[in-house]
Amino acid sequence: MKKVLAFSGSNSAQSINQQLIHAVCKLKHDLDIKVIDLREYPATIYGIDEEIENGIPHSMIQLRELMLGYDGFIVSSPEHNGSMPAFLKSTLDWLSRQGGKIFQEKPVVFLATSQGARGGASVLKHILEIMPYRGAKIIGVHGVGEFDQKVIG
Ligand SMILES: Cc1cc2nc3c(=O)[nH]c(=O)nc-3n(C[C@H](O)[C@H](O)[C@H](O)COP(=O)(O)O)c2cc1C
Repeated sequence: MKKVLAFSGSNSAQSINQQLIHAVCKLKHDLDIKVIDLREYPATIYGIDEEIENGIPHSMIQLRELMLGYDGFIVSSPEHNGSMPAFLKSTLDWLSRQGGKIFQEKPVVFLATSQGARGGASVLKHILEIMPYRGAKIIGVHGVGEFDQKVIG
């Protein structure tokens, strides 16, 4: 059975993207899915001075090592001003400083949800543009807008 790591890019305790991840993982599938909460991998916002002075945060090394053990990923991103939240971007920046591609040329499904009617369409467009260069073999993209949020339950 393929092992899939699933997480949202939100640092909100009430995150609707994290709720979406849990809802999606309850759907029928034949995958071994582990859901993690990125808030359990806290790190200072990425900066080159921070990296030189203090090195890569232990949490980011742990996350990188965890990701190496999975066959694919499901990632749901909030939309902040048309793009990823700084929390997710910073996490990806730290991961990118550890050699190799962030998503290791493995299959990735990208999701997004926001209270807006467009359901994170802008962040998904951005993700589609940039993530293939970060090693994401994108096999699915889906935004969930205000009219669909009853699926989160
Ligand atoms: C700083 C900020 C910027 C936002 N920008 C957008 C936006 O550009 N488009 C949008 O649909 N929602 C926007 N929102 C609303 C968030 O996308 C929405 O609250 C999101 O679904 C929260 O996800 P979460 O609960 O998983 O953190 C913004 C919210 C914040 C706090």
